[in-house]
Amino acid sequence: MYPLVRNRRLRATESVRRLVRETVITPDDFLVPLFVVEGKGVKEEIPSMPNYYRMSLDHLEKEVSELWKMGLCAVLLFVKVPENLKDNKGTEALNPEGLMQRAIKTIKNACPEMLVMTDVALDPFSSYGHDGIVAEGQILNDETAEVLAEMSVSHAQAGADFVAPSDMMDGRIMTIREALEDEGFHNIGIMSYSAKYASAYYGPFRDALDSAPVDIENVPKDKKTYQMDPANRFEAIRETQMDVDEGADIVMVKPGLPYLDIVREIKNEVDVPVAVYQVSGEYAMLKAAAEKGWLDHDAVMMEQLLAIKRAGANIVASYFAKDVVQLLT
Ligand code: PBG
Repeated sequence: MYPLVRNRRLRATESVRRLVRETVITPDDFLVPLFVVEGKGVKEEIPSMPNYYRMSLDHLEKEVSELWKMGLCAVLLFVKVPENLKDNKGTEALNPEGLMQRAIKTIKNACPEMLVMTDVALDPFSSYGHDGIVAEGQILNDETAEVLAEMSVSHAQAGADFVAPSDMMDGRIMTIREALEDEGFHNIGIMSYSAKYASAYYGPFRDALDSAPVDIENVPKDKKTYQMDPANRFEAIRETQMDVDEGADIVMVKPGLPYLDIVREIKNEVDVPVAVYQVSGEYAMLKAAAEKGWLDHDAVMMEQLLAIKRAGANIVASYFAKDVVQLLT
């Protein structure tokens, strides 16, 4: 072999490196998470997510048009719900004139081709900050799945292209799929958060939406009875396979970088597109290190996203989407 075979030949110049590169990042890879709030002229920075904002509908409209012009083609919507509209059953989530429903319509009016995905879970609407209905210290499974199905239909009626259930109740993909079919929404897709772990990396997101579980007696203080144990690998495959069988069009692993072993495992196992959510805590960590001058922000950002794609992601939900596209163009 050596010296006849020298691996460094394929690394000798930028041109040959470009030629043999296995993984590339393009604007088509990204889902852009957006945080929507009530009001007018509101664009407030999220303290634990530097340079990321909660926006009222007027700003949302501008933002989405800008994203589209940059070449980004899909958004993932989250809403921050006023405290007085929250209850245990997430009733406000079903309001046809609710913030989510208005946000969908605003985007579809401003930019019809932008793919709109919506988060489906009760937590932003829940007075307890849980993804499901709470009763006697438990998160009810089947009752919650029914509400999520109604919520999905409501988003579809408002014009969403995909619903993205992020709650981890059992059987919710089938319940949602059947409800969408019953209402004639045959072409509305489901992107399932399939392997979603009970992760501490969601902290900044819960700040952004004020959606953390509340500290009240007889209400679980964490989401460990429905989100997955970070220690588990085989369970992720089972969860994901079940979601595919129940009708998920796209599956997701979340968080991203610390869970790339799971991403590869799932990519090898299923034949639907695999999405990865590079979550708020991952974003916050890099922003903080870069602010201190300890890491090269752009270089580390690109390396992390390459790693996520290399592991098997077909789609990446990332707060860095705009930064990346700016860097690419
Ligand atoms: C809501 C939801 C969460 C995230 C996405 N959807 C928070 C949670 O499950 O507590 C986290 C996203 C992020 O941290 O960027 N069910």
